Formats: sequence, C-alpha cells, structure tokens
Amino acid sequence: MSAPKVAVVTGAGSGIGRALALACASEGMVVVAADIDAEALVATQALVEATGAACLAQRCDVSNAADVERLAEASWSQCGGVDWLFNNAGVAVLGAAWDATDDDWQWVLGVNLMGVVHGVRSFVPRMRARGMAAHIVNTSSAAGLATIGGSSVYCASKHAVVAFSECLAKDLAQVGAPIGVSVLCPSLVATRIDQSQRNRPAALPAAGPTAAAYGERVRAGMAASDISAEDVARAAVDAIHARRFYIIPHAHTGASVRDRSQKIMGDFHHIHQESLQ
Ligand SMILES: NC(=O)c1ccc[n+]([C@@H]2O[C@H](COP(=O)([O-])OP(=O)(O)OC[C@H]3O[C@@H](n4cnc5c(N)ncnc54)[C@H](O)[C@@H]3O)[C@@H](O)[C@H]2O)c1
Repeated sequence: MSAPKVAVVTGAGSGIGRALALACASEGMVVVAADIDAEALVATQALVEATGAACLAQRCDVSNAADVERLAEASWSQCGGVDWLFNNAGVAVLGAAWDATDDDWQWVLGVNLMGVVHGVRSFVPRMRARGMAAHIVNTSSAAGLATIGGSSVYCASKHAVVAFSECLAKDLAQVGAPIGVSVLCPSLVATRIDQSQRNRPAALPAAGPTAAAYGERVRAGMAASDISAEDVARAAVDAIHARRFYIIPHAHTGASVRDRSQKIMGDFHHIHQESLQ
C-alpha cells in the first residue's frame, strides 16, 4: 500500500485554511497545519484528527522566511514530502488609500505576498528534487482580479499574488516540472478575516481612521454570503483534481472581472482607434 499523500496548509487555524485542512483530511491525506496562532492551530489539529487523519501542527509566521523554511524541513523530515501546498494565510487592513501607513503596507504585503513567496521558495525546490506530481494553491481573492474602494493595500497584495502565481505556473511549465499551480480567488466568505488585527504584530501601531466604516461594509457582505469556507475549500480541491488555474467560487466575481476588463479595453480602443482601422 502506498503512503498517504501530504497537504500543507498555512493559515490553518481559522476560516478557509481550517476548511482546506479538513477537506484534505477527507481526501485521505496527512495534514501539516501551520498558523501564527498556536491556540487556533491546536483546535484545527483536534478537528483534523477527529476525522481519523494524521495532523502535524507547526506554529509558523509566513512573513518570516526562516519560519517557512522550518515548516518545509519538518514536512520533509516528518512526513516524507509534500503533495499539495496551500499558501493561504492572509490578513486585511481597510481604509482610504491615503490613510495606509508604512506599517500597514509592511504587514499586509509581508503576510499576503511574501508569505506566498516564502512558501514557493522553500517548497518548490524540494518538490522538484522529489520529482513527484505536486500542486500549489495560492490564496488570492476576488480582490486580486478586480478592485474595491477602501481596500488598496489588500487589493495590491492580492493582485500581486495572482501575478506571482501566473508567473510561477509559466516558470514550472518552462522547466517541465510536474507541479500544478492554482490561484484561489473567493469573494466575501464568513471567516475571521474582518478581525485580522488580532494577528497584527504588537510593535505596529493600530490601523488608520477610516477603517471602521469599511469594516462594517465587509461584515455585512460576509453575513450575506451564501458561500461558506467549506464550499471554497471544496472548489479548491476540485480544481486541483481538474488542474484548473483560476478558482473563482462566487458567480458574481465574473461580472467584476468583465467590467474591469471592458474598462481597460474601452480606454485602449479610445487611444488606438485610428491605428486599429
Ligand atoms: N474571508 C473572505 O471573505 C476572503 C475572501 C477572499 C480571500 N480571502 C483570503 O483567504 C485567506 C484565509 O483568510 P480567512 O478569510 O480564512 O481569514 P481568517 O482570519 O479566518 O484566517 C486566517 C488565518 O491566517 C492566520 N494568519 C494571520 N497572519 C499569519 C501569519 N503571519 N502567518 C501565519 N498565519 C497567519 C490567522 O491566525 C488565521 O488563522 C486569506 O489569504 C484571505 O485574504 C478571504
């Protein structure tokens, strides 16, 4: 009998990450759950183990390259390698673009973008050396495909994750590596992302003055969402099996992407009308 496959999930202590960990457990996989929040991690570990799956829990701040390297080392030394990697941990700050501070940018880009970069840097060379089929899912957002007011820092980080993932897929195809890539782009889902401040490093001052009003809007959107974290996790697992790149669980995201693309092409045609005739 072959050894069970192994899935690593960052941000596994809550929300979409916890749902991904449980979805992998129900696929019969060993789960390596990582999060900055050690208590939340213990709860996820108990939930995964209650399904009968094995779970290694490791505290890891994804914005710290050495932490992510240790996560990869542990995954290889204790589980023998990794088949699926979910670079999922993320945080949000809200507020008008001009209110975002250096600390806001550093924190959100450090977790949302550099967390994904660190995951790829530590895991891809090991996956390539192992030579077996593998898959990486980077969690972006609908905010990585379109934009929304009050979310400049978050949108910039998530657009960067989409661009990085597209380049990663091209680079892996270029070298013929058997490693698939997907980018997960959900719209609002009820999780604890609206309480991201709980994970803000104590050394960084609190968020700007306009955050509260935008926060209300996000909470209302989450409450109205008819898609759950479990639905998102299922869509991600289905996409891995189908080897689909873009995972877009909410139907309404299609309209936002189309509107943005039409606006870009409208302005493009306006400038290039004569040269196109
Ligand atoms: N909930 C939504 O509406 C939504 C929509 C689109 C995308 N997303 C993305 O989904 C991902 C998961 O978020 P969620 O909604 O489940 O939120 P959540 O707050 O419920 O879970 C995020 C998890 O990430 C962990 N985390 C935070 N900083 C970390 C760090 N530096 N290192 C390691 N772990 C860290 C938190 O402790 C938490 O357990 C994020 O990337 C988020 O941007 C969420």
